[in-house]
Amino acid sequence: MKRVSSLIVLLCAILHIASSLSDGLLPNGNFENGPKPSQLKGTKVTDPHAIPFWEISGFVEYIKSGQKQGDMVLVVPQGASAVRLGDEASIKTKISVTNGMFYSISFSATRTCAQEEKLNVSVTPNTEPKDFGVLPIQTVYSSDGWDSYSWGFLAQSNLIEIVIHNPGREKDPACGPLIDSVAIKALRKPTRQRGNMLKNGNFEEGPYIFPKTNWGVLIPPNIEDDHSPLPGWMIESIKAVKYIDSGHFGVPEGTRAVELVAGRESALAQIVKTIPGKTYDLIFSIGDAKNSCEGSMMVEASAGRGLIQVPYESKGAGGFKRAKLSFKAVSTRTRVRFLSTFYHMKSDNTGSLCGPVLDDVRLVSIRS
Ligand SMILES: *[C@@H]1O[C@H](CO)[C@@H](O)[C@H](O)[C@H]1NC(C)=O
Repeated sequence: MKRVSSLIVLLCAILHIASSLSDGLLPNGNFENGPKPSQLKGTKVTDPHAIPFWEISGFVEYIKSGQKQGDMVLVVPQGASAVRLGDEASIKTKISVTNGMFYSISFSATRTCAQEEKLNVSVTPNTEPKDFGVLPIQTVYSSDGWDSYSWGFLAQSNLIEIVIHNPGREKDPACGPLIDSVAIKALRKPTRQRGNMLKNGNFEEGPYIFPKTNWGVLIPPNIEDDHSPLPGWMIESIKAVKYIDSGHFGVPEGTRAVELVAGRESALAQIVKTIPGKTYDLIFSIGDAKNSCEGSMMVEASAGRGLIQVPYESKGAGGFKRAKLSFKAVSTRTRVRFLSTFYHMKSDNTGSLCGPVLDDVRLVSIRS
């Protein structure tokens, strides 16, 4: 009997492993399977193993969509349930991955109190010191208060643990971000396509976007290229850029693009090998995401000592144009960089930030 039950446990473990290998939601990644009534005190989860596939620590609440907090109604975008992490609370889950491969985590979250809330995402095992992502949950980018966030990591084992932790120290334990869905995606090593010196220039490779959400996924600031959830690219400055899909946005080419949502505070960059003295063309598309982001936009592209400002008139209805920067390389490594000159807000009275879209970026050398 003992043998049989351990066999069943083993079988379940294998099935779990097999199912978590594919891209998408983690097992019970949207928290639809919740605690039993006996494992709840009000909304507070009292048993660390009450949420299937997850282990919790600290003040974690299990929130049903439509639940009230003060005069605010909490809305959950995917399914009916979410978890809220109080101060210093965390949730974690073990999943099977491929050792040595890069992955990105995507999760949907919203803050519930007035102050700035943060979430700390980390993975174990991890031999790199200080390798965690503290992501500000600002909800300034989407109309409905929810945003999705991404974070990239290198798997250092076939079995890893993902930890999401609220490092906040507020007085009210019932303050803290809500988390709704957690997904993972294996990232292919960025490659150069024929006729393009840039990696992932069309942004087709990137973090998981929840198919039923219409707000894309944010690529957090200060991201180095070796851990980027957007392979090949770095986010140089202090604010995020948004990764968008053609299912919900206007995308100039293919199915993915980047929306520069934070003005000069966020720049997208890639470093390429160049030959000093040689002339190169940087060709790219700029447009709008068909998301009521209207106005006179400007995208600034720079490479080496070359700089171009490309204006784009957005009616918020989609559309794009091609632009080109020719420059002479001054070094063996050239930094190609894009940013939006201005801030923009959606014309839907939500005050959410938006901006020009960048796609299909190519770098070619020109024979003299
Ligand atoms: C984030 O989490 C990691 C891993 O648990 C921890 O080592 C680190 O101190 C945390 N950082 C902050 C700012 O809370």
